[in-house]
Amino acid sequence: MSPENSAEDPPAPEPQRPAPPRAAAAGSGNGVATPQSVARQRVGEGGLNLKPSGRMHAPASADAAAGRAEAAIENPLFSCRDVSVFYGAKQALKNVTLDVARRQVLAMIGPSGCGKSTFLRCLNRMNDTITGARVTGSIRLDGRDIYDQRQDAAQLRARIGMVFQKPNPFPKSIYDNVAYGPHIHGLARSRAQLDDIVCTSLTRAGLWDEVKDRLSSPGTGLSGGQQQRLCIARAIAVQPEVILMDEPCSALDPVATARIEDLIDELREQYAIVIVTHSMQQAARVSQRTAYFHLGELIEIGDTHRVFTNPRHRLTEDYITGRLG
Ligand SMILES: Nc1ncnc2c1ncn2[C@@H]1O[C@H](COP(=O)(O)OP(=O)(O)O)[C@@H](O)[C@H]1O
Ligand SMILES: [Mg+2]
Repeated sequence: MSPENSAEDPPAPEPQRPAPPRAAAAGSGNGVATPQSVARQRVGEGGLNLKPSGRMHAPASADAAAGRAEAAIENPLFSCRDVSVFYGAKQALKNVTLDVARRQVLAMIGPSGCGKSTFLRCLNRMNDTITGARVTGSIRLDGRDIYDQRQDAAQLRARIGMVFQKPNPFPKSIYDNVAYGPHIHGLARSRAQLDDIVCTSLTRAGLWDEVKDRLSSPGTGLSGGQQQRLCIARAIAVQPEVILMDEPCSALDPVATARIEDLIDELREQYAIVIVTHSMQQAARVSQRTAYFHLGELIEIGDTHRVFTNPRHRLTEDYITGRLG
């Protein structure tokens, strides 16, 4: 029996709890979170909170129709329809339908194990490399089915940069980490051109000034945050159309995280970015659209501000208010 229900005991006072590690979107002065007000909040400042609204949710059918309308966009980069993934007999992703916009950040959030990484790996056919994994449904990149038998998976992955949770520079020099991709894909005709690509990529990744005097040092000798920026430089060196990031900041300290977030904001001028994050604050800060997954299903997707301030679905609301996770 809980203290509140006990006839004998007086109600126990609410214990003073520290702010939950994952609360939701930030409030600005007038109580309304805007992407800008959220963006001003940095990791470690805390204070992000969204109270359960207690508001009535629209009927399920209206929700579903509104949800479908928000999942599809005009002229998408990726168009994913009814995507399911099975690991052996176990279905990890269930009929996910969504579009990914150009020059925009899509954040994917949801409890651990809900299928975020699985979905991300569908976009560059990395699930192909997992024994027993099977993908159904359709994923089009610029209108072309990436699972078409004629599509070469290696060529596809060259168009899609990927950044992982743990920075994973090659055991090579800083220069070679960035030059490797352009070299094997024949993007440079001369050493001078390759030098140029390396310099440009490191500059865009915000790392050039820190490494320009030690390009021949091993990439693995850099700090964690620098290694992650090196991996981003490596990803953009091959001029991808989209960058996929799977919890790219979870191994980084708050300062390094802030740098990567600033970088994501700059990169979206040129690239589509799909980022998996366990941090709702991060999703609110860096993304324009947010997708919420739960137990392998896409529960809702929409404008980040809308999802965080006015979730359509009870499950989304429970998650962003910290009641679910
Ligand atoms: N290689 C794999 N083999 C078998 N099951 C997997 C594999 N990868 C993920 N899963 C399962 O698929 C589900 C979704 O996992 P994942 O996509 O990693 O979730 P998330 O990234 O949201 O934490 C989980 O139940 C997980 O255990
Ligand atoms: Mg994951």
